[in-house]
Amino acid sequence: MQFPSYVKHARLLSWVSSMKDLCKPDFVYWCDGSEEEYNTICQSLVASGTFIPLNPEKRPNSFLARSDPSDVARVEDRTFICSRRKVEAGPTNNWMDPKQMKSILTSLFDGCMRGRTMYVIPFSMGPIGSPMSYIGVEITDSAYVVANMRIMTRMGRKVIEALGENGDFVPAMHSVGMPLAVGQKDVPWPCNKENKYIVHFPETREIWSYGSGYGGNALLGKKCFALRIASVIARDQGWLAEHMLVLGVESPDHEKTYVAAAFPSACGKTNFAMLIPPKAFEGWKVTTVGDDIAWIRPGKDGQVRAINPEAGFFGVAPGTSAKSNPNAMATIRANTIFTNTALTPDGDVWWEGMTPNPPEGLIDWQGKPWDPSSGKPAAHPNARFTAPLYQCPSVDPEWENPEGVPIKAFIFGGRRSTVYPLVYQSFNWIYGVYLAATLGSETTAASTSAVGHVRRDPFAMLPFCGYNMASYFNYWLRFGRWSCNPPRIFGVNWFRKDKEGNYLWPGFGENIRVLKWIVDRANNHGKAVESPIGWMPRYEDICWDGLEFSEEKWAELMSVERDAWMSEILSHEELFMKLYDRLPKELIFVKELMISSLWRAPEHWEFAKVEISSYDD
Ligand code: OXD
Ligand code: MN
Repeated sequence: MQFPSYVKHARLLSWVSSMKDLCKPDFVYWCDGSEEEYNTICQSLVASGTFIPLNPEKRPNSFLARSDPSDVARVEDRTFICSRRKVEAGPTNNWMDPKQMKSILTSLFDGCMRGRTMYVIPFSMGPIGSPMSYIGVEITDSAYVVANMRIMTRMGRKVIEALGENGDFVPAMHSVGMPLAVGQKDVPWPCNKENKYIVHFPETREIWSYGSGYGGNALLGKKCFALRIASVIARDQGWLAEHMLVLGVESPDHEKTYVAAAFPSACGKTNFAMLIPPKAFEGWKVTTVGDDIAWIRPGKDGQVRAINPEAGFFGVAPGTSAKSNPNAMATIRANTIFTNTALTPDGDVWWEGMTPNPPEGLIDWQGKPWDPSSGKPAAHPNARFTAPLYQCPSVDPEWENPEGVPIKAFIFGGRRSTVYPLVYQSFNWIYGVYLAATLGSETTAASTSAVGHVRRDPFAMLPFCGYNMASYFNYWLRFGRWSCNPPRIFGVNWFRKDKEGNYLWPGFGENIRVLKWIVDRANNHGKAVESPIGWMPRYEDICWDGLEFSEEKWAELMSVERDAWMSEILSHEELFMKLYDRLPKELIFVKELMISSLWRAPEHWEFAKVEISSYDD
């Protein structure tokens, strides 16, 4: 079997060759990344029944794929960090001895591509040639993965050229784990129903993924490389690989401020990254650099800068509509791959929340006529769209700047119906690390835990940190000490509810009011007062043009209640206990200082609107 003559990289050639010997595919194909190749791959997916072409008038050059019902999301319980020592993976990751895991994987991969084509996908995370980018090569037996990787990354021959003869790359091995016997007919969504492994070897910077063809399990540039492996590389090299969107805020006088924001899954990151300000905010603009991952490092001038390592969106479809996110709807108008959405009779896609009423005659995500009275959704709750970033109307002109964009603020937010106010600024970097380390979010119907349960998700990195979480906290503290002017750190919560269970804050485009306060503070000209947990805007510190919002409601939305905070801090303790052997002492001190501030007499708080219960000292 001939490999292309333009590949001159000895380690790459020898790795591909040994993987070919192990997996025993019928063919090997090196992806060149061209448009013709993409079209051919899509046509082959149509022929195999994996892709349904959508109506070319309604959704040009777009396709729908339906996965196996057992292969619909990331599999956290099958995700492993196989560092040499268990303590390096830490108590929040699954671990297995790397030698033992390699032996399991080697026998699983032995012959796993029989009857299939092995694709070699060279890809760059970040603009090719940027000093902040990194190259990977994914080997896969899934043409669906090839098509998605072409949208999500810069991929193909130009990456091989950038790699040269001895450039560094992360090898990423993937198989759907379903070899075909001679004459065996394939299925539209091959996967392995019994066995799934998503495995990372942080010291040798390798990824092995077996048994799933879906999203983060299979598009290995995303969560596996750009977060789990990259977080380890970043720690060793002095930068950060974070589960953060990056957006720019432009004021009417053209002051541009970039911020990066971390939210656990299912908190509307894509909507926030593509926010459209309301009419009253004429002249304000939000631009999108990325919606999921940021690679961040101090530039030569000491200013912290970020790139989006990805080139596309792999967004959750349900809930996306012309109302909630018009920019996303425009992004996915064409050249998009949809997975597990419903299909309309005229060959378009639909999902819950796209329109108030479902169209008649829908085919559900499993390919069956949908019965609206069944109580089941027509689209899977984790249905996705894969679309190129440059198609987004709000794409930032600097999104491919090889030096990245300057970051002035880090924002952390979860889904919390109680306790957390709409917005506050940490007193300093260390308080900010506390805020991020104790981030939590209420689980939604899309996750496996009971609805409404608070899942602690430090830095929104719980499923994505490639090493010990407590060491990661320490590393963040060190990063702050190195930076001459580190970004300011903020907490937000769009999801607080009143006693009747109604959301207090309208969210979506109105979040610009919060963003405006944040960028003003980050640029050292916003007003704030002190509260026990950080700096907060008073009612008069927020711009209310075009929105009726009473001072009473604001007080409720922003209240810091002592009893609620005391039990919240107790639940932070649960996480701290789990991480006790490496927990930075700063986090314990901040916790004590917060308790002390919470006991301060309310009449002495500058944040006068706060109602404190049970103060009887
Ligand atoms: C994602 C996630 O898919 O965070 O981006 O789960
Ligand atoms: Mn994510």
